[in-house]
Amino acid sequence: LENGLARTPPMGFNNWNAVRCNVNEAFMKKTADFIHTRKINGKTLQELGYSYINIDDCWALPKRAADGNLVVNKEKFPSGIDGMASYVHAQGLKLGVYADSGSRTCDKAGFPGSFGFEKIDALQWAKWKVDLMKYDNCNQPADDNFDRTVARYKAMGDALLAAEKQTGQKILYSICQKGDRGISPFPWSPEVGNIWRTTSDIRPNWARVKQLTAKNIPLHKYAKPGAFNDPDMLEIGNGELTQTEEQTQMSMWSIMASPLLIGTDLTKASEADLQILANPDAIAVNQDPLGKQGEQVSNKGGLRVLSKPLKNGDTAIALYNETDAAATISTNAAQAGLLSVARYEVTDLWTKKVTTTSGTISAKVPAHGTVLYRVRAVG
Ligand code: GLA
Repeated sequence: LENGLARTPPMGFNNWNAVRCNVNEAFMKKTADFIHTRKINGKTLQELGYSYINIDDCWALPKRAADGNLVVNKEKFPSGIDGMASYVHAQGLKLGVYADSGSRTCDKAGFPGSFGFEKIDALQWAKWKVDLMKYDNCNQPADDNFDRTVARYKAMGDALLAAEKQTGQKILYSICQKGDRGISPFPWSPEVGNIWRTTSDIRPNWARVKQLTAKNIPLHKYAKPGAFNDPDMLEIGNGELTQTEEQTQMSMWSIMASPLLIGTDLTKASEADLQILANPDAIAVNQDPLGKQGEQVSNKGGLRVLSKPLKNGDTAIALYNETDAAATISTNAAQAGLLSVARYEVTDLWTKKVTTTSGTISAKVPAHGTVLYRVRAVG
């Protein structure tokens, strides 16, 4: 969506994976404080680019007010959504909220949906100075189909743009339609929203991370500045992933130009988890201004190679081993789309080791692991 936002994939935090419906003001403020102040290798997560603090489902009361407006649950958020927005804005961060395009939200408690209330809700969020809106797809009207799904998402997109005209508040539009009931998020999502979920919900286990990655890889042609595929949030630090698998998620989300939305209680994350989330070189691949999603150049039985052109002429290359055994993964400069020159400098973005090659790019990659390189043509 060309609304000036998400020129590179949005980065930040979303509470859903960490605390689900038990979200509240103290937790969100504690997270914002952590992102704003905690230094990892001398830099805060905010300085590294993480800026959106997103409140997911369960912030509202079960009933709208008499005037039709959504009402914040003041027991959970005593300062209100507007108060949360001023809190994070004072830190230079941004605030996101969640809503649903049907009659009720996805959590089993089912908070009010925005179907038929698009204009009134968009205006209220804009007045509260909300910066991002994640729009889910539960409890759709009974006569739902492809055209009506697109219409529901377009109605909110138009309402957000109208609210911006009225208030000046720009809101990044995050579509959470997930391809539900076989209704494709394409071709419409890149025109209607800034990011769109391409998969069902992520879980903190290898099987799910592998499955969502495989589903998101072929969608590279849809990604561009202002519009990015969203294979769901980061599970780094949420328990069931090994450090190798966490490094794979960070590497693959980076080369796929996916939103980097931390889904972990950061105050409980280990130092190793924080080091992965704070890898400036992986982040630079993700945030590259060309805004391209890396393209798969080969896949030999789950030994995959992805290549992503970068603005300064370098190329990011991921050697991704989705199999259960260590293996050597190889590609070469021509296959990975590099300029044909005599020598390349290859930097491993995890170990920081630099080597040179005349064209072969290869590494032994552990089971479930990813080697992420930045390759520069030197002559
Ligand atoms: C859906 C979404 C999740 C989360 C929950 C909240 O499952 O896909 O990301 O927002 O709803 O209820």
